[in-house]
Amino acid sequence: MERETLFSGKKVLVGPDSGYDNYIMAIESSCDETACAIVKNGREVIANIVASQIKTHEKFGGVIPEIAAREHLDSINIVVQEAFDQSGLKPEDITAFAGTVGPGLVGCLLVGLNATKTLALVHDKPFIGVNHLNAHLCANYIDTDLKPPFMALLVSGGHTQIIDVESYSKQTILGETIDDAVGEAYDKVARLIGLPYPGGPRLDKLAQEGNPHAFELPEGKVDGYNFSFSGLKTAVLRLVKSFDGQELPVKDICASFQECVSKTLVKKLKKAVEEKGYKQVVIAGGVAANSEIRKKVFELEKYGYKVNAPAMKYCTDNASMVASCAYFNTNTFDDVDVEVFSRA
Ligand code: KG4
Ligand code: ZN
Repeated sequence: MERETLFSGKKVLVGPDSGYDNYIMAIESSCDETACAIVKNGREVIANIVASQIKTHEKFGGVIPEIAAREHLDSINIVVQEAFDQSGLKPEDITAFAGTVGPGLVGCLLVGLNATKTLALVHDKPFIGVNHLNAHLCANYIDTDLKPPFMALLVSGGHTQIIDVESYSKQTILGETIDDAVGEAYDKVARLIGLPYPGGPRLDKLAQEGNPHAFELPEGKVDGYNFSFSGLKTAVLRLVKSFDGQELPVKDICASFQECVSKTLVKKLKKAVEEKGYKQVVIAGGVAANSEIRKKVFELEKYGYKVNAPAMKYCTDNASMVASCAYFNTNTFDDVDVEVFSRA
């Protein structure tokens, strides 16, 4: 696709049809990770730098947006410099600069997006604004030769969607959560049973040591490809209360919760891919790092599907997926005046 440099308006070809090697530098700052990456031709990671804010937010039990935004400010120049250093590339070697526009925390997005726009302006390169959810899906292109069409399950802190990926740029959401996102449910249940932030990965770890059939928990009953996790969350709350101050069987609660969630998600993903007749399924988003969800999705291979999941470090927020998206997906925000947005 032909794009224009920001300063002088020169034409630059970007993407799989450009006919030469593309090196896209991308920045991601939508939540609590300040990240910068350089990716060659959408699939080969040349540099991947992530500055995590977990230590900062741990003491509050969750992400505090204002503090997160300030920390992005402190880290942004460092991660950009580290990405250049790690790659050995110079700004003039970069084909285009890409950044996350939304959805995410507005103050956080502003830092990364303004840095991206500034780099593009100063070095006279195209600017490519990327949707964070599209970027999560594109994590599946890293280190693989995966090509659409495929059915995708996108599970993150803010979203739970089944997406029909017809082509690199054409995606249709077939269903989504009507209340809590999976990651949100994980984090809330983790807090309920006394686990520190970030709850999801900790709950996952404990679940692996518990009995997944210890407690029967209700699957959200929603039509089609939609999901609901608030009932399950309430059921866990009731279960915790039933112990009335006695020691909680934490590992069994985690395992039973994880079993219920993963079963629901993969059941609907299987139904969607069967109905559409695709041969490939993928998972994406922070919760795609979950051990049981990965296991159950890979079990779909026995029905003949080709299954892909990004490497763990490309499931949670990172900038390589943003660079990959800027390369493959032409549905981007290329106007330098584009404003960040908080909700999809
Ligand atoms: O995609 P992501 O990094 O940020 C958003 O775009 O939301 O996802 C973060 C979410 C958090 O809710 C976190 O608890 C969850 O992903 N998460 C996990 C695991 N690793 C991260 N949830 C369950 N099991 C995991 N292993
Ligand atoms: Zn994310």
